[in-house]
Amino acid sequence: MKDLLTKNHPMSPNGQDSISKNNSYNLSLEEIIETRVSRRSVIKGSLAVVAGSFLGLNLTGCGSNSNNSSTVSAVAAAALLDFDSVAKNLDDMVTVPTGYSAQVLYKLGDPINSFTSEYANDGSDTDFNYRAGDHHDGMSYFGMNTAGTEKDLSNSSRGLLCMNHENMTQIFMHTVDQRAAYDRTSRSSSEIDKEVSAHGVSVIEIQKGSSEFSINKNSLFNKRITAQTEMNIYGPAKNHDLLKTKYSTTGAKTRGTLNNCANGLTPWGTYLTCEENWAGYFKRPASSTLTAKAQATQNRYMGSSASDGSYGWANSTTSDDIYDRWNVTPIGTDGTEDYRNAANTFGWVVEIDPFNPTSTPRKRTAFGRMGHEGAMPGIVKSGEPLVYYMGDDSRSEYIYKYVSSENWDEADINGGLDAGNKYLDDGKLYVAKFSDDGSGQWLELSMSNTSVTSYASYTFADLGDILVNTRHAADAVSATPMDRPEWTGVHPNTGDIYITLTNNTDRGKATGNSSELDAANPRYYTDDKDGKTSKGNVNGHIIRMQEVGNNPSATAFNWDIYLFGAQSDASENINISKLTDDNDFSSPDGLFFSQASKGLMWIQTDDGYYTDVTNCMMLAALPGAYNDGKTTSIVNSSVPSNGDTNETITTYVGTDAASTNLKRFLVGPKECEITGIAETPDGKAIFVNIQHPGEKTSDLSTLSTYGSNWPDAGTSRPRSATVVITKNNGGIVGS
Ligand code: FEO
Ligand code: CA
Ligand code: CA
Repeated sequence: MKDLLTKNHPMSPNGQDSISKNNSYNLSLEEIIETRVSRRSVIKGSLAVVAGSFLGLNLTGCGSNSNNSSTVSAVAAAALLDFDSVAKNLDDMVTVPTGYSAQVLYKLGDPINSFTSEYANDGSDTDFNYRAGDHHDGMSYFGMNTAGTEKDLSNSSRGLLCMNHENMTQIFMHTVDQRAAYDRTSRSSSEIDKEVSAHGVSVIEIQKGSSEFSINKNSLFNKRITAQTEMNIYGPAKNHDLLKTKYSTTGAKTRGTLNNCANGLTPWGTYLTCEENWAGYFKRPASSTLTAKAQATQNRYMGSSASDGSYGWANSTTSDDIYDRWNVTPIGTDGTEDYRNAANTFGWVVEIDPFNPTSTPRKRTAFGRMGHEGAMPGIVKSGEPLVYYMGDDSRSEYIYKYVSSENWDEADINGGLDAGNKYLDDGKLYVAKFSDDGSGQWLELSMSNTSVTSYASYTFADLGDILVNTRHAADAVSATPMDRPEWTGVHPNTGDIYITLTNNTDRGKATGNSSELDAANPRYYTDDKDGKTSKGNVNGHIIRMQEVGNNPSATAFNWDIYLFGAQSDASENINISKLTDDNDFSSPDGLFFSQASKGLMWIQTDDGYYTDVTNCMMLAALPGAYNDGKTTSIVNSSVPSNGDTNETITTYVGTDAASTNLKRFLVGPKECEITGIAETPDGKAIFVNIQHPGEKTSDLSTLSTYGSNWPDAGTSRPRSATVVITKNNGGIVGS
């Protein structure tokens, strides 16, 4: 989701997005006294190619044939990116390279069964429990057998697509009359119900016909999980006092998943959906009215001021528990009598078993509570722990890692959610601290870390408290504030970890929630767009980490910066990666490594700074490896937080982004972001989400003119949608 979307009209998207709540003022790296070990000699270890395969490739469901070799299309790197880069454009369409096709598969409001009507798309539609939600985001493809009865993760022609619906564009959900009557302090229950059920997750069965994919509306697996669906709470924070509510006085369950952004998956074929900007949905009091600890939690996650919540879901004109639960104001004598702890039941990674439609999703508290962007696994190897990398997407938040206590056993491959109990409920949670010399540390967040237990600003009662207040624990250990950590991905050949840092307009500021420049977040500059000037790290970058010894369980890592976003015509201190018209971009967000074409990485943008020149896009990359570039000095002019005329930062930059290793593959329609990507195991189809086209629509009085009319064209309301991209000759996408 974009940073600071238009907040000036009442039906604007969730205005809480990505606003920094990090007041911890951790010392940035340049202020830390470091032992400057000889960086390159220490960290230039061998890039051992990790043996073994990654998720999905060796996994089949019970009873299915284990014919794995055919699913692993080892496309030589030299054969990839053999297409002409798509030109930047402002067209209201999806543009893909010559030789490729894009098919619209699943649009906002599309029915997921045969008894729900087609979407009228005029604001009159209801029953979103049986329709596609809005703001399609992270997604995964899970193959199933040809008969469509069970899991066969190797099948590319029939499978389940699990998809997040992060948010909604409220003005497109309602009629013109409803829009005119809109009052966030007094809302109709039917409108709220519709909005609540437009959030969450879709599970849909798709099949490939003679050429195109279609949705099987008769599938027993199709379902919507919404912001109202019952969820069980698992892991160390289950039953914690901080999770007890009137709905679950034992703190064992909650209702709904919310603002589901990026995603992840497990080796046992379940889906992970991650709760990002949930904080803005709740009605809340001024935090000064709360107990000291509750005040600290609210300030760090939600903000200190009182709010009705972005959409006023607590302000229904109909009195009912399902609306009261959006109000976190203490009313009863303790948490079991009201919903003061309701927000604590959000901000988690949630596991869903798409192959068990009647199962209840499980919130995995061991992964900590934050603005979870995604939770992508490292390389999965038998006999070793499972490792997940995670970004907390707000300005100057942190990067995290989870390492399971149990070692992966392939016997659990069909274990479903109970396998999740084994691997996702018991492990260590770490936060990353980057040093200016190119090294870094994973700092454990637990009661055995005295930096956590001796933290002056917040006294942790136990591990559950640490997990509910993960950001405070990360502050306590002086983690490194980053330029909005978004998606993570692990290179299947090298094990290198890539993390998009989308942008940060707090970086280098003199006041407020400013963060100093450091080697890992080294840029401050000015960007002009339509007469508006933005400052900070406006275009973002992608950082790359290598675990010491290539051991995912290591507590130390080394890093460099793989790629900087920039306009191609920017100065050399901004366009450090030497981007050209073929591959320049701003605000990287989605990031995904193909498992079919090993070495191919997709980068998606959610940008508001280069959109005077081009709509958001997707690029295909062949990243090299950690430490394939050089030490680089970046001169930043007139950085307010520093005060010097020039602030020179020395950092470590990957090899230049030539047109042979980075190409623009897709440009989306107007005012969208490109987010969410999945592929069939054979790599011959990829699924890409187009989120919120036309989001800047300003004709709010009549709603007759939209910022986009994609995908239905004419004068229609725009709709978020999934597209399927295939190569016309039937080849591997990206080759
Ligand atoms: Fe939902 Fe950080 O993007
Ligand atoms: Ca610009
Ligand atoms: Ca995102």
